[in-house]
Amino acid sequence: MDKLSIEGGVRLEGEVCISGAKNSVLPILAATLLTDDACIIKGVPELRDANTMIKILRSLGKNAEFEKGVVTVTAGKSNNFVADYKLVSTMRASFCVLGPLLGKLKKAKVSLPGGCVIGIRPVDLHLKGIRALGADINIESGYVTAKATRLKGAHIYLGGVYGSSVLATDNVMMAAILADGKTVIECAACEPEVVDLAEFLIKMGAKIKGHGTPVIEIEGVRHLHGASHTIIPDRIETATFMIASLITQGNITIKNACVGHLGAVIDKLEEAGASISITDNSLKVRFKKQLNAVNITTLPYPGFPTDAQAQIMALMSVTRGISVITEKIYPDRFMHVAELNRMGAHIQREGPHAIVDGVNGLSGAPVMASDLRASACLVLAGLAAKGKTSISRIYHLERGYENLEDKLQRLGARIWREKE
Ligand code: EPZ
Repeated sequence: MDKLSIEGGVRLEGEVCISGAKNSVLPILAATLLTDDACIIKGVPELRDANTMIKILRSLGKNAEFEKGVVTVTAGKSNNFVADYKLVSTMRASFCVLGPLLGKLKKAKVSLPGGCVIGIRPVDLHLKGIRALGADINIESGYVTAKATRLKGAHIYLGGVYGSSVLATDNVMMAAILADGKTVIECAACEPEVVDLAEFLIKMGAKIKGHGTPVIEIEGVRHLHGASHTIIPDRIETATFMIASLITQGNITIKNACVGHLGAVIDKLEEAGASISITDNSLKVRFKKQLNAVNITTLPYPGFPTDAQAQIMALMSVTRGISVITEKIYPDRFMHVAELNRMGAHIQREGPHAIVDGVNGLSGAPVMASDLRASACLVLAGLAAKGKTSISRIYHLERGYENLEDKLQRLGARIWREKE
């Protein structure tokens, strides 16, 4: 297995171009199950998770080819409605094939996704929504089996104890499109990736209104046709590079960014003292003076994204003052705290809060990645730390960041891959 090594202390400067959004690609690839026509998805980043979803589509009977950022999906010889454990267990997001399989075939058998280090990650809201549309649901030997003679539109409240659910909204929206009549999803997720999925579905002939707001209305149609679509830029990768500029006291211009998706992140980093200048699709993030500690609470969109929590914690760990970081989406999403403390950070966990007492500097150390965003946090900490940091289990990183070390090298970072 490989590890990433970083010799910290270099100010990052120059330009970086953001790749397509992982969390948009996955449900949009799943949505191609709703039609037998050809679909062309552009701007797809070369990511482990994208390749996993392509494997799942093939296991469900689709032809799927991925070349130079473009995925072409066409009908195969047969339709299989069983998404098996060995693939689904490697990527929780594959559970979002449930809705389209049920919508198109009126039956689906999908392995229950395991939990992961960031939380137990239940699927009760997905099942509540699918049941409301008239499906019979059975859970046996680790699989969800859903079937329906017909799906009927319904009014569904999809809010859970932690608020809205991104993939539950996606699953229910995709199942409702081919149902009879109107479906209203209340407390729908408003994330840009849900909007991107809805835009793709509308291109396929779906009738959807209100996407991007907490109330989505779907008018059932009989049939969906193929479509082509370009994936939105990845707002979490953008936030990661914004923080990379600040934590190395650098000056980075981020191209192909969707500034409108980053309100909470821009607001928080400006509050900390960052200099951020904006054009229509790029951000110039410069470290102009010592930053000050800020408090962060993660919330469903448009609140501060939980997927950028670990990254901003790395920045706060080297920012003078006390920063209280409250994780409202996944209260256990703090695996990165112990690793940061091994690099000299002073962070104390109190339930869903992490109290970060900023230090003057971190020291490089061998650390271990535990999940995708914790890996990004450790890369950021390594870029700022004095000395060498080696990050093991970087397959977590490859799930969600396209060519990260290459992009960082072009900005001046001393980062390279080594054999474990
Ligand atoms: C999506 O996961 C993202 N993944 C996650 O990004 C992201 O952290 C999350 O949304 C929140 O923004 C993809 O889009 C592929 P949720 P999802 O359902 O949809 C609880 C990354 O790093 N919940 O919005 O699975 C859940 O436990 C990944 O890119 C229920 O209680 O997340 C959590 O506390 C990590 N019951 C909250 O809702 C349910 O049925 C929000 O989760 C479903 C979720």
